[in-house]
Amino acid sequence: MTSSKTLYEGKAKKIIKGPKKNTLIQIFKDDATAYNKKKHKIFKGKGVINNKISEHIMEFLKSKKIPTHFEKRLNDREQLIKKCQIIPIEFVVRNIVAGSIAKKLGLKEGMKLKKPLLEYYYKEDSLDDPMISRDHVETFGWANRSELKRIDGMSLKINSLLTKLFKKKNIILVDFKIEFGRLASNPKKIVLADEISPDSCRLWDIKSKQKLDKDVFRRNLGSLMGAYEEVASRLGIVH
Ligand code: TMP
Repeated sequence: MTSSKTLYEGKAKKIIKGPKKNTLIQIFKDDATAYNKKKHKIFKGKGVINNKISEHIMEFLKSKKIPTHFEKRLNDREQLIKKCQIIPIEFVVRNIVAGSIAKKLGLKEGMKLKKPLLEYYYKEDSLDDPMISRDHVETFGWANRSELKRIDGMSLKINSLLTKLFKKKNIILVDFKIEFGRLASNPKKIVLADEISPDSCRLWDIKSKQKLDKDVFRRNLGSLMGAYEEVASRLGIVH
């Protein structure tokens, strides 16, 4: 594994310098956290599976003309990515009521939404990532109107592409969180960044509605690795 100075360390990933200008290496860790780190556990091999699942999804989205930071997977835990300035917003797209929206609005988990719902959360752990409006994003300059318009469009397109991809594998894409960044080499260009994996999505088996994502850990529902392996296997990822 590459050894170099850590530029950023998050809950489930670490970023180090890349081999060339405007590149970085993203390293997937085995740590799982929930409820803003109040719950923490290490699952041996989780980082390896998420690296491969995220690679698969990023390659799929690239093939559908979604610009991403992803360059290539380097090994079991590392990806070469384009350096970006991350926009400090978590973009959540929901198709079905689950998780925080069920709790916040007193809704029944499993209710299908009439159309995809896009939410913004300000990325700030010390504030528990508060939900914000479009106006907050613009007022505080986290992204401008034109950037937000492009990101909204990309988020909904990603939702439609991934909903179809997972449906073919008998999986319902309930909701997911994505992040975007401005390319260091060309800040006008916005790309999908971070990762897309069962850590950042809710995925349910189409028939049994069994959870195949991080809710297994959040809610103590059984084997997290078993669930992630199932997703990888249905996506045709061999490892
Ligand atoms: P929520 O229901 O807890 O708001 O989560 C919505 C989706 O976003 C769910 O698929 C999990 C994902 N998510 C993250 O990946 N990171 C986070 O910090 C949060 C709050 C949610």
